[in-house]
Amino acid sequence: MISNTPLYSALLKHQALRRAPFHTPGHKCAPGALPQDLLALDFTELPDTDSLFEADGPILQAEQAAARLFQAKRTLFSAGGCSLCIQAMLRLACPQGGRVLCARNVHRSAVNTMALLGLEPVWSVPDAILSALKNNTKSINACYVTSPDYYGRLQDIPALAGLCRQKHIPLLVDNAHGTQLAFTQPDLHPLHLGASMTADSTHKTLNVLTGGAWLQIGEERYVQDAKEAMSLFASTSPSYPIMASLDLARAYQEEHPAAFAEVQRQVRVLSQTAQRIGITNVSDDPTRLALRTSDIGLTGAAAAEIFRENGVEPEMADGGFVVFICTPWNTEADYQRLAKGLSALPIGKPLPPIPELPPLPPVRLPLRQAVFAPAHAVSLEQAVGRIAAEAACPCPPGIPVVMPGEEVTQEVAQFLRGYGFFSLHVL
Ligand SMILES: Cc1ncc(COP(=O)(O)O)c(C=O)c1O
Repeated sequence: MISNTPLYSALLKHQALRRAPFHTPGHKCAPGALPQDLLALDFTELPDTDSLFEADGPILQAEQAAARLFQAKRTLFSAGGCSLCIQAMLRLACPQGGRVLCARNVHRSAVNTMALLGLEPVWSVPDAILSALKNNTKSINACYVTSPDYYGRLQDIPALAGLCRQKHIPLLVDNAHGTQLAFTQPDLHPLHLGASMTADSTHKTLNVLTGGAWLQIGEERYVQDAKEAMSLFASTSPSYPIMASLDLARAYQEEHPAAFAEVQRQVRVLSQTAQRIGITNVSDDPTRLALRTSDIGLTGAAAAEIFRENGVEPEMADGGFVVFICTPWNTEADYQRLAKGLSALPIGKPLPPIPELPPLPPVRLPLRQAVFAPAHAVSLEQAVGRIAAEAACPCPPGIPVVMPGEEVTQEVAQFLRGYGFFSLHVL
């Protein structure tokens, strides 16, 4: 009898709550989303099973089938999440180092990768990335955006891609939250709107085991070195059940091309219900609910508690929003609970608007140096005038106000204090 299993026991306890899952992974642990026998298929590299980084058999065939579905020049499997795809994408775009124009709402894996590779980010606030690209006078090697972001908001990929083509630089898209956009009406997948490469966190929205992701390549020039770039950062023991689930998820979408139509319908109905009680769904992704509960005087965190009381587990909640990820493996009963949770929210006066972000602080040290230098935590008061060793990202808006290597200005410290930050790691 196994008894001392804190994590396993916690998972069983959570499972017993039977909350309607509006969080990742996309399979929602639903019966039929994946075969039950994946444990029995947890093999390794054998003569019959191919090898991810030397693929010339069934893994290569499975990747080629995914590439055909996405009309990609190449699709690569990752069992190390979308983070691995982001690492490979940056490596492929800037093999000799260089500068990357980045919308600042990047995932930490992009910041860490740029530090590891010695790349120099040129930051722009996300809303201004198009004009930053237009007006950029520094030599840059790539443009990098997150689209959709956590709140489901999309960048203008066709416009960015057009400008990048004119400038002969790749457009790299962290599409962690958007694999499913290839299967919605309209098709909003960034690869199909002109991106050079996209990193898709497939496990977030399709029936894939956690950790399964796709690197999608839209330009031939990146194909040859792609495997090597992935293997540079990856484990040599990729999980076969995860890779098999990627194969199954691709086949599922081929056989059920309208699987997301019902999701879109449910999200449309719930958006309208939310709007009637005064809450806006800010998501451009038609499969996601990013409800601005601050509209009715509730923080996202407070609203999330009410949803939990009604048997619903959201994906994320912050000071102003609660986010729900909806997939074909959510049931009618799940959506009914979500609607019940909505009707249970108390309606009050809107919370004050999000304060305007302080100006981007000056860069004092290259990112790599700042990330790898010895650092220590100090109070925000003591941090003023020092160089940040870490990003600080209040949510909302989910945009870091200071990045490693930037000076902690008085305005930055004041802004962070308003969000309840007390200390920061500095050099
Ligand atoms: C915007 C964004 N990019 C990248 C990632 C990393 O994805 P993964 O967890 O699959 O490595 C995440 C994870 O939450 C994310 O939200």
